[in-house]
Amino acid sequence: MNKQTATLIKGDGIGPEISHAVQTIFSTANVPITWEEADAGLYCIEKYGNGIPQETLDSIIRNKVALKAPTTTPIGGGHKSINVTIRKSLDLFANVRPSKSLPGIKTRFDNVDLIIVRENLEDTYGGIEHMQTPEVAQCLRLITRSGSRNAARYAFEMAKLSGRKRVTCVHKANIQKITDGLFLRSFQEVAADYPQIQHDDILIDNLCMQLVTKPEQFDVLLLPNLFGDIASDLCAGLVGGLGVAPGGNIGQDSAVFEAVHGSAPDIAGKGLANPTAILLSGLQMLRYLGLNGYTKRIEDALQQTLEAGIKTGDLGGKASTQEFTDAICSRIAPEDTVSGQETPTKIIIAREPLTKEQQDWNIHGIDVFVRSKTGSIPALPETIGSFKLAMISNRGTKIYPGNAPDILMVDYYRGRFYAQQPVQREDIIALLTAFPKDYPWMHVEILHNEGDNPLFSKAQGE
Ligand code: NAI
Repeated sequence: MNKQTATLIKGDGIGPEISHAVQTIFSTANVPITWEEADAGLYCIEKYGNGIPQETLDSIIRNKVALKAPTTTPIGGGHKSINVTIRKSLDLFANVRPSKSLPGIKTRFDNVDLIIVRENLEDTYGGIEHMQTPEVAQCLRLITRSGSRNAARYAFEMAKLSGRKRVTCVHKANIQKITDGLFLRSFQEVAADYPQIQHDDILIDNLCMQLVTKPEQFDVLLLPNLFGDIASDLCAGLVGGLGVAPGGNIGQDSAVFEAVHGSAPDIAGKGLANPTAILLSGLQMLRYLGLNGYTKRIEDALQQTLEAGIKTGDLGGKASTQEFTDAICSRIAPEDTVSGQETPTKIIIAREPLTKEQQDWNIHGIDVFVRSKTGSIPALPETIGSFKLAMISNRGTKIYPGNAPDILMVDYYRGRFYAQQPVQREDIIALLTAFPKDYPWMHVEILHNEGDNPLFSKAQGE
């Protein structure tokens, strides 16, 4: 069999120890992979000025697959997370986190077998944040139709390929009606292309409760980025914690597999690290490459090792990293016992075309977010040009017109102006130019309608 080259990032802290364990196990199993080692981590900031040099990204682009050990993210200093940089630079739009109960690892449940597919690039992780006033910070939560559809399509394709029966979309569309509404709608549109796979949806809060009471009811879960980040760690906890939680970041052209835990500086170099999570990530990579026979032999050896009670300290055992690795290696079945099982399983998702829908939108009004330096309710004009003041809100609750409710009000107000006749973008410029200087506007949002259908949310009490 031809050897495939994969990029290996050994990372920081326990990264080199657990990477070495995977290399040893793969080489004992004769896995047809050649490793191309590449730099990333805290040490690269000193060496190259950033945590991940371009040569490493080029290596992943060239090889199309990588296994990454954890890297340390310095707190402060303005350095972007290496993981986020990899995901964004390579457009790795889906994060895939399987959670499966393992033998020999005592947890509250022994029947968990679910896969989380998390949209990996959008949501509040766009890093679009601004201070609006000394009192108020803002983060833009961008959910896109194409990004949501890509992640949904990956979830259904993966379900189809791996014989799973149901995909459940997790959201909060009852509150975040526009953003999560788009995520849910995109999921439902994509689901129509997969009549053989069941689909349903659940609110994120209900999901959390169900996961910690009856996790066995779930099969494949699809979530937006932030909910997915949290729920996937919750699911890791269901099967034994971060030491056994693998993950893959999948794009159209390349994929990066990584252990979910961090660089564990507290135990680095002591021979205590558990290599299971990165090993399972490596197996996820092999499955992605279609090397299923090799995956199965190593998976069986890992299970037998755990069943024999050979575990690292984090799982309540006494084995060192090396002893655990050796125990797995000694249980790997001979290669000829699994011949003929190798089939490519790579899922290629073509990038979604952009929608043309916006052509029918018209401007219905504008939200102007202003700072009130005195802290009192701003005296905004009732009309400016062809716009009429509809309401003022504070922290999403209407406080004008009518009696202001007794709520905490900060120094940041929204004036909502509706157009009284059809308006153009120039009319908005005129409104902002004429805006009272006592209330500097910090941020504006155009309110669109599609026909009579508003494409924006109402304030509480509006
Ligand atoms: P951590 O996951 O490194 O450690 C949390 C606790 O779990 C520690 O007590 C550690 O000893 C233990 N632990 C983690 N992995 C283990 C393993 N394989 N075997 C045995 N014990 C293990 O999280 P922490 O301390 O919050 O972060 C340390 C550094 O890692 C930070 O700089 C953080 O930014 C970075 N990090 C990197 C990630 C990545 O590269 N994928 C993910 C999460 C954190």
